[in-house]
Amino acid sequence: MESAKIRKVFFDFFASKGHEIVASAPMVVKDDPTLMFTNAGMNQFKDLFLGNSVVKDPRVANSQKCLRVSGKHNDLEEVGVDTYHHTMFEMLGNWSFGDYFKKEAIEWAWELLTEHYKLEKDRLYITYFEGDKEDGLPADEEAVSYWKPLIDEDRIIACDKKDNFWEMGETGPCGPCSEIHIDIRSDADRAVTPGKELVNQDHPQVIEIWNLVFMEFNRMADRSLMPLPNKHIDTGMGLERLAMALQDKTSNYDTDVFQYYINEIEKKSSKKYQQSDSKQDVAMRVISDHLRAVSFSIADGQLPSNSGAGYVIRRILRRAIRYAFSFLDIKEAFIYELSAKLVEHMGEFFPELEKNKDLIAKVIKEEEEGFLRTLDKGIQRLEELFANSGDTLDGKSAFELYDTYGFPIDLTALIASERGVSIDEQPLILSFRSKRNAHVPLER
Ligand code: ALA
Repeated sequence: MESAKIRKVFFDFFASKGHEIVASAPMVVKDDPTLMFTNAGMNQFKDLFLGNSVVKDPRVANSQKCLRVSGKHNDLEEVGVDTYHHTMFEMLGNWSFGDYFKKEAIEWAWELLTEHYKLEKDRLYITYFEGDKEDGLPADEEAVSYWKPLIDEDRIIACDKKDNFWEMGETGPCGPCSEIHIDIRSDADRAVTPGKELVNQDHPQVIEIWNLVFMEFNRMADRSLMPLPNKHIDTGMGLERLAMALQDKTSNYDTDVFQYYINEIEKKSSKKYQQSDSKQDVAMRVISDHLRAVSFSIADGQLPSNSGAGYVIRRILRRAIRYAFSFLDIKEAFIYELSAKLVEHMGEFFPELEKNKDLIAKVIKEEEEGFLRTLDKGIQRLEELFANSGDTLDGKSAFELYDTYGFPIDLTALIASERGVSIDEQPLILSFRSKRNAHVPLER
């Protein structure tokens, strides 16, 4: 099932259960000092959960554009290295604002996954909150009582607060959650190690696909929990991961969501994507991922710049350019051309792409050309340094190249290693340390 159909099935299902289908909020957040980018579908509904605004539609569903570029599993430098982390992703969600609660959320999630998407039941696992002494909360036996009629009891797993108590941030709406995980390994692998042992173990093929949060509390600044005025449902399902399961793939990048662009990158570079860990394949994954983050951000009005959210976007785009330059041998602007493909693929569902397609292409092209000039100049300078440095490049010079010319340090390292030149790291580390205060943080 292609991604467009996956979205449609989700919306049709929740519309049939009385939900209003609403538009995604912008990915770039302008009015919340605690958040730079939307990182969960519920962000736009925070005030409804807290009881600070009036509920118009008690049941809504959507597909939310999210961006996660920091945090434990979302270090930008890791994206593209594995098969299932992304900067931008779509979160399919359904919400109840003081309307239905655990029973319906659980039964509908199961119905949609097993009857409409037709996922095999014996590949699914459920987790629930085991309770927490510190917060004075009991195990979520109520959720278990709704799961038991649907799935074998030994597929229901108790997990602690870290995995099964969802919080928006340090403070704010939160509550216990129940997650649905899927095991997409081969039958042979499944026979050797039961999927149950791999749930929540960072296995790339035993992964969470849907999180059902039972919002009941507000986490206060002193860490105490205050009951919310009403109980709510907040769910989030990763579209790209669901596509991987429904398209019988073992990597998100092998689904239509990314293959559309990877095919174009193959043509442009005259190189073949081989689903491997090679730098060439990492580069194709990086570009196909970053193209989406950058284009959506520009469509939402956030252009690359030198500070705040714009700096995050600039870093993402430059990372894509650098990978194309170093590992695909593409030395000219081309990512802007891919943005037309993105509009073709996703513009029908996200009209902001269609509306801003010329701006997206223009901004990306300018940024690419500018950064490619930087790379060119840096490489010339590096050649001069190599000519004078023998076997070892002074770390201070490598730092200056980064600091003054904006030349990426890892590119210096890569070129140096290709030449058999080592970098004297101590002065480099010291220079970075003394510069640390000037570092622009990702989060405000
Ligand atoms: N808000 C929940 C999440 O982001 C659904 O996982």
